[in-house]
Amino acid sequence: MPFIVFEGLDGSGKSSLMKCLDKELSDRGQRVSQTREPGGTPLSEEIRELILRPRPATQAPSARTELLLYEAARAQHVHQVIRPLCAQGAWVLCDRFTASSLAFQGQGRDLSWDSVVWLNSFATEGVKPDLQILVDVPLDLAQERMAQRAPKNTLPAEQYKDRIEAEDAEFHERVRQGFLRQAQIQPQDWLILDGRKTLAELTATVLQCFLIKTWLPA
Ligand code: TYD
Repeated sequence: MPFIVFEGLDGSGKSSLMKCLDKELSDRGQRVSQTREPGGTPLSEEIRELILRPRPATQAPSARTELLLYEAARAQHVHQVIRPLCAQGAWVLCDRFTASSLAFQGQGRDLSWDSVVWLNSFATEGVKPDLQILVDVPLDLAQERMAQRAPKNTLPAEQYKDRIEAEDAEFHERVRQGFLRQAQIQPQDWLILDGRKTLAELTATVLQCFLIKTWLPA
């Protein structure tokens, strides 16, 4: 069954969409596994914590170190979880994958696109998603949603935002363009959704796409 990846800005609603689709597919009797990046294995979750923990600027990983940590987490995740699940014939729904490294580290941190493509391919042993779903939202809406998610107390942002979330608006706008660029270069690999729509509308659009691809019986 297909390996589906959900991508978008933090606050785009991709994780809620993924959960909703998991339920819809399970209700139709499909075998579904959810996973995420960075993470999905004990080692990769440890790397996630290393990457995202807020640190003083002098101790933050460099852009290249950050990329390599994401790729290390990914290599373990593909090896230990994604490849075996795909071999078992389950639907695999993954919150972020290689396109996030291109958008955040390639475009956001201004690392060479070709290097990220190469490292992605090395880490994944060539495993590619059958479909990448981009939940595209304007930056101001993503930031509004992130603010609503923040703890309802007086904590300063740096105490609840992770290291990537705490980047400035220009960074996140570059990331958004990084996702759109990939979808424009390889439209056959992507379903682009307008994340301003309701969760019910987005879910219906994706299910329709699965039907058209004959991944679901009519
Ligand atoms: P995510 O799990 O989507 O964040 P949250 O739990 O807050 O919803 O992703 C964690 C962060 O890691 C997110 O800001 C995007 C970033 N990221 C990269 O920069 N590069 C990558 O390759 C991946 C997979 C994630």
